[in-house]
Amino acid sequence: MAANIKSIRDLELSGKSVFLRLDFNVPLSDPDSEGQRTVTDDSRITEALPTVKYALEKGAKVVIGSHLGRPDGKRSSESSLEPVAEKLSSLLGQEVTLADDCVGDGIEMMIRTQKHGSVLLLENLRWHKGEEENDPDFVRQLSKLCEIYVNDAFGTAHRKHASTYGLPQVATQKAMGFLIEKELKFLGQMLNEPKKPFYAVLGGSKVTDKIKTIDALMLKVNGICIGGAMAHAFWAVQGDTIPEGAKQPKPADVEAARTILRDAKKREIPILTPADTNLGFDVGPKTVERFTSFLKDAGTIFWNGPLGWFEKPEYAKGTFEVAKFVAALPALKVVGGGDTVSAIKQSGFSDRFDHLSTGGGAVLEYIEQGSLPGIDILKVYRQAQSPYLA
Ligand code: 3PG
Ligand code: MG
Repeated sequence: MAANIKSIRDLELSGKSVFLRLDFNVPLSDPDSEGQRTVTDDSRITEALPTVKYALEKGAKVVIGSHLGRPDGKRSSESSLEPVAEKLSSLLGQEVTLADDCVGDGIEMMIRTQKHGSVLLLENLRWHKGEEENDPDFVRQLSKLCEIYVNDAFGTAHRKHASTYGLPQVATQKAMGFLIEKELKFLGQMLNEPKKPFYAVLGGSKVTDKIKTIDALMLKVNGICIGGAMAHAFWAVQGDTIPEGAKQPKPADVEAARTILRDAKKREIPILTPADTNLGFDVGPKTVERFTSFLKDAGTIFWNGPLGWFEKPEYAKGTFEVAKFVAALPALKVVGGGDTVSAIKQSGFSDRFDHLSTGGGAVLEYIEQGSLPGIDILKVYRQAQSPYLA
């Protein structure tokens, strides 16, 4: 898929203003007594560092654009990228200037006078409605900021927004960064040439959110383990009792689970559901045994969704024990989704996994579609077809 997409390595960056679209949509703490918030999981920032450092080393004026949260076209202090600027600066070990907006004369002037080898972080792209609407006017304003466009926002590549979909169509030079390249390498290997058997471990709360992904996975995998609150919908279909106090599944989720079980039976794909739970908030020891003895011969494992409410220490055991077991397997191990990556990191075994994706929705959509709009649009041949060039 990446065959006709240029890499940042293919471009001459020296002395140029390089607009780096990154996904710095990271979780933040509640404000402290002085109203300051901090980044609570910096995975998306650390994963983007190789691209940022490369552009700096090549002597580019690095201009970073990102969104944070869903401010819906309005400025707000809660959605400011200030905590991100601080984190990025400490990780890079150099100053990061935070602009007070992302487009306009003032920003263009800042870039004109920007030093080569320095970083300017633009404020939240979603403070402008034009970002999510992929408005041509907003695209034109963004295009004034860059001589070169580099997308490394894998986590946002499923969105057809101005900075991910419109801008690459007008940019004269465009490429992907090292993070997108790495994501495509591992997800491609997992989906296109998985070492068999290939198993999926799925958790989370709603079956309806994942049904399309499960449909697509069923064409590839040799079995699926299902945990998390989502498992209750499967229990409801199987006639098992859902523990009191646990969230009861919605009828739409039960219907989705019924469809999945029916399709899986037709395709002879085993679907493993929990054998026991810890008050309905975690998988119990019998389930850990059931899942691990099933997964032990895996060649490839894709894990999306925690198996329990791992943020509460009393309900983290099931997820952590399965993580420990999977970590030790000689299989290709790929994890997708912000919560899942946090859970695997907290388990203490994340360094034994091959790839912790920075995408949540983007990974699921990549599995469903086999591509993502924000990546497809970087393909060289697209340039001539751009509606923005008409
Ligand atoms: C994400 O975290 O899912 C990406 O940053 C995209 O954000 P969105 O779901 O608000 O579009
Ligand atoms: Mg999302």
